[in-house]
Parts: sequence; structure tokens; C-alpha cells
Amino acid sequence: MVSGSPYFQVSFFIFVLGCSVCGSLVGDPYVFYDWTVSYLTTSPLGDEQQVIGINGQFPGPILNITTNWNVVVNVKNDLDEPLLLTWNGIQHRKNSWQDGVSGTNCPIPAGWNWTYEFQVKDQIGSFFYFPSLNFQRAAGGYGGIIINNRDVIPLPFGMPDGDITIFISDWYTKSHKGLRKDVENGVDLGVPDGILINGLGPYRYDQALVKDGIVYQIINVEPGKTYRFRVHNVGISTSLNFRIQNHNLLLVETEGSYTVQQNYSNMDIHVGQSYSFLVTMDQNASSDYYIVASPWFVNSSDWAKLNGVSILHYSNSQGLATGPLPDPPNVYDTYFSMNQARSIRWNVSAGAARPNPQGSFKYGDITVTDVYVILNRPAELIDGKRRTTLNGISYLPPSTPLKLAQQFKILGVYKLDFPNKLMNRPPKLDTSLINGTFKGFMEIIFQNNNTRVQSYHLEFWMAMHSLL
Ligand SMILES: *[C@@H]1O[C@H](CO)[C@@H](O)[C@H](O)[C@H]1NC(C)=O
Ligand SMILES: *[C@@H]1O[C@H](CO)[C@@H](O)[C@H](O)[C@H]1NC(C)=O
Ligand SMILES: *[C@@H]1O[C@H](CO)[C@@H](O)[C@H](O)[C@H]1NC(C)=O
Ligand SMILES: *[C@@H]1O[C@H](CO)[C@@H](O)[C@H](O)[C@H]1NC(C)=O
Ligand SMILES: *[C@@H]1O[C@H](CO)[C@@H](O)[C@H](O)[C@H]1NC(C)=O
Ligand SMILES: *[C@@H]1O[C@H](CO)[C@@H](O)[C@H](O)[C@H]1NC(C)=O
Ligand SMILES: *[C@@H]1O[C@H](CO)[C@@H](O)[C@H](O)[C@H]1NC(C)=O
Ligand SMILES: *[C@@H]1O[C@H](CO)[C@@H](O)[C@H](O)[C@H]1NC(C)=O
Repeated sequence: MVSGSPYFQVSFFIFVLGCSVCGSLVGDPYVFYDWTVSYLTTSPLGDEQQVIGINGQFPGPILNITTNWNVVVNVKNDLDEPLLLTWNGIQHRKNSWQDGVSGTNCPIPAGWNWTYEFQVKDQIGSFFYFPSLNFQRAAGGYGGIIINNRDVIPLPFGMPDGDITIFISDWYTKSHKGLRKDVENGVDLGVPDGILINGLGPYRYDQALVKDGIVYQIINVEPGKTYRFRVHNVGISTSLNFRIQNHNLLLVETEGSYTVQQNYSNMDIHVGQSYSFLVTMDQNASSDYYIVASPWFVNSSDWAKLNGVSILHYSNSQGLATGPLPDPPNVYDTYFSMNQARSIRWNVSAGAARPNPQGSFKYGDITVTDVYVILNRPAELIDGKRRTTLNGISYLPPSTPLKLAQQFKILGVYKLDFPNKLMNRPPKLDTSLINGTFKGFMEIIFQNNNTRVQSYHLEFWMAMHSLL
């Protein structure tokens, strides 16, 4: 499945017809978790507000597991509305009924519980989970997923001295229900109220911009040690530039792949992305250091005031962090971000679990079976509501979930007619899916015709039975 950022609620599905190979889950360890998802009251930006927590924590607990483990999470929904947890980046190769994606997995009704069960087969890396419906992610409900190498597979770098998860996100003080109503009524959400780091507001780096009394994140470290920082942008729509004052970020992994190791002084992290950096505490401890996440690809002075700021505190630090924040990259260099993304390379010699590429290493030899140019456009009026579209279609979730319609061969729930380019016809609402070819290779080109950054979340699943 491919969906736009939750902000825009546009999505479409790709059906790949055929039967996937089903191995045995027997033999690999099982881990069990009991989670209760409920509202909590916290004050990230100084004033009390409702957030979504898990087992009383915001952000939620970290799922710390190892390649091939079977994970069983019994989730109790104590919210007052349906909840669907999505396991971002987990490849549900055996059971897409458990992926937490709308259309294949039903939401958990308020007051009910549901047990997600999946195997993290042949995967390593840093991911996160989040509530994917009803704009709930704007209120939290997210947490980290760490998938460790099996013991027999060495890391492609020295074992870090510590493992630190960082969530960065745009944040509104309005409730997710209020924001949802605004979006439904076509009201622009405007500039966020702040940028959070690990669910906490900024350190008071500027007396005028940050009010007193905000609780901020302090990361405690020892001089000379090297830590793995796993940084996730869990926000709604804002791209963020991440940096740690005076410290290099040695990129080692992103989205479940070990990378060629390169130093960066800052990294653009778009909504939904996850990066692992090794950071060595190689600076003198004359003071604490700033950890910054600042909005990117936005252009107004209102945005310039928003910075997520945490503190890197050496155990022998001589004082507080003071002075200006480390500079962001040059905002007028529009190619900076693209060039930075292109500089990231997969380390194919790193020993790691990775999904069976089924011959896809020989990219030059691939016969492309389908080409889709997918164009998103700013919201336009369809049946009186503002809707964003992909190739002129705004996805309409059917009342019968796609997966059930397929399993029970219920005709008419969806159409397999998603166009491979923008058609010359008025925009419409439809349950229109891409008809992929089993074992084929699809080339998808995303074309952004909006005036702001659009992030996509691609999630693929194999249909076990064909409707045709
Ligand atoms: C994850 O679990 C492993 C043991 O399986 C432990 O060594 C490691 O410190 C844990 N990591 C975190 C971040 O809790
Ligand atoms: C709900 O939770 C109970 C108690 O933990 C458990 O026995 C039951 O299997 C769960 N139901 C579902 C559908 O996950
Ligand atoms: C790639 O991984 C290998 C194997 O672990 C490692 O020795 C090497 O340093 C890595 N290369 C780069 C450029 O990161
Ligand atoms: C990255 O920077 C650190 C200093 O912070 C340095 O020790 C290391 O050699 C650099 N690594 C690479 C691959 O450039
Ligand atoms: C420590 O670092 C600060 C900031 O980089 C610098 O001004 C200061 O001179 C350094 N002190 C020592 C003793 O190296
Ligand atoms: C940002 O806004 C200024 C003033 O409105 C404008 O001149 C400039 O071109 C804009 N920059 C970008 C990158 O949009
Ligand atoms: C879907 O694609 C298959 C070939 O992969 C084709 O046989 C079938 O007719 C297509 N279905 C529709 C509804 O277009
Ligand atoms: C893309 O946007 C421009 C400016 O809004 C518009 O003129 C153009 O027609 C759009 N192209 C498509 C294919 O929608």
C-alpha cells in the first residue's frame, strides 16, 4: 500500500496477485507484550493537554527485538475512538492481516483489545509504530522498534556504548480531534505550535522565544564514548533538519539497511523517516551541547521561531549550553537536501538480514512490467469537500475492508483500475487500486505538483488468493 502523509489522507493500494510462500514460524523465539493505549495529560509546550500514551508512557515503550523473533502484542484500546496501530517498516511477509494497515487490518474498537502477531523475518534496523487513523498520530501514540542482528551476525561497526532513541516531530496544542475537524473542513493547520523531541518541548535557548518552565529532554553521556542515536521523524507534515552542536553524525543505518558509513554535520529527516547515527563524545566538556530539530522547506518568519532543542550533557560538563543554536544548512540551496539524500549508499557487503531480493540485484536486467507516474496535487473541491488526489483520484475507504472483500470474493468493493498517469477528467473519489503483475517489476515515479513537501509511506503486501 502507498499512502500520502496522514495529513493529506490520500492513499491507494497495489494488488499483487498470486500466492506467497509461507514458511514455518516454529523454532524462532516468541516475545509477548501487553499494551494499554489511553489518553494522558502532559504539558509538552508548557500548557496541559491530552496526548496518547501506551502503558502510561508518552512516547510509548520501545519494542527491542531480534531478527526472526515472533512478536505478540495484545493491545487494549482505552481511547474513546477506534485505534489502528501500524508497524512502520515491518515487512509482514507472511501475514498481512496483522500489518495494521487500513484495508487489511480493522481498527480496534474503543474499549476492546486485539492481539497483533507478526514475525520480524530477515530484518534489522530502526523503525517505529504509530496510530494511523483519525489523526491520532498528532497526539502521540508512537514508539520505537529496534530490530537487532542475530548474535551470529556481527554489526558492521563496533558495538556502541549506548543506544538512544530520539523522536522529533511537529506539534500542535490543539487536540487531534480539533485538528481532524479542521482538516475535514478544509482549514489549513498552519504553523505548528512547536517541535517536540521525545515528547518534550524546547530547552530555553532564547528567553524571548521559549517560555519558562518547559520540561526538555536531557541526553546524559560519558566523555569518549560512542552512542547509537536512532532518530525518527514521527510528525504530521514537517520535514526537520537534525543536528548536534559540534558533533559529527556518522550515518550507519537507515530504514532497515546498513549504509556506507559517512559523517554528516546535520541530516534532513522527513516525516516517517528513521536514521541511525554513531556519535562520539569527542568534544571538551566546557559546556552542554544543543541537540536541534528545525523545520525545513518552510518559508516564513513564524517557522523560524520553532526549534526542537534538547541537551547533550557530558557527565563532566562544566556548564549550561548557551549562545546561538548551530546553524541550519543554507535555506536558499534547494538542492542541498536532494544531494544529501543521494549521498546515502547501501553497504551491500555488510552482513545483515535482508529480504530476499529475488534477483533484483541485477537492476539493469530487469524487465519492467508496469510504469506508474503518480502525481499528487493540492486539495481541490470534490463533492463539496477539499480533497487531495493521486492521479486525479482521492481514495475512498470501502465499508468492507479490502482484504475481506478479496478473501471472500465480494465483487464491487473496489476497482482494479488505478490509472498509470493523470487522466484528462475531473477529479473524483473512488476505491481504485493498482492491478500489479505477480512477479513483475513495477517502476513508480512520484511527481509532486503541490507547493510543499509530500512524503509517501510504501507498504506492500502479497495477496494470498486471487479474486480473478
Ligand atoms: C535491547 O535488548 C538487548 C538484549 O536483547 C540489550 O542488550 C540492549 O541493551 C537493549 N537495547 C535497548 C535500547 O534497550
Ligand atoms: C484480549 O485480552 C485478553 C486478556 O489479556 C486475552 O485473553 C484475549 O485473547 C485478547 N483478545 C484478543 C482478540 O486479542
Ligand atoms: C561495510 O560493511 C563492512 C562489513 O561489515 C565493513 O567492514 C565496512 O567498513 C563497511 N563499509 C563502509 C564504507 O561503511
Ligand atoms: C567521522 O568523524 C569522526 C570525528 O567525529 C572521525 O573520528 C571519524 O573518522 C569520521 N569517520 C568517517 C568515516 O569519516
Ligand atoms: C572547549 O571547546 C570550546 C568550544 O569549542 C572552546 O571555546 C574552548 O577553548 C575549548 N577548551 C579547551 C580547554 O579545549
Ligand atoms: C521565501 O519568501 C521570500 C519572501 O516572501 C521570497 O522572496 C523567497 O523567494 C521565498 N523563498 C522560497 C525558497 O520559497
Ligand atoms: C489485472 O492484470 C491481469 C494481468 O496481470 C489481467 O489479466 C487482468 O485482466 C487485470 N484486471 C483488470 C481488472 O484489469
Ligand atoms: C502542476 O501545477 C501547475 C501550477 O499549479 C499547473 O499549472 C499544472 O497544470 C500542474 N500540472 C499537472 C499535471 O497537474
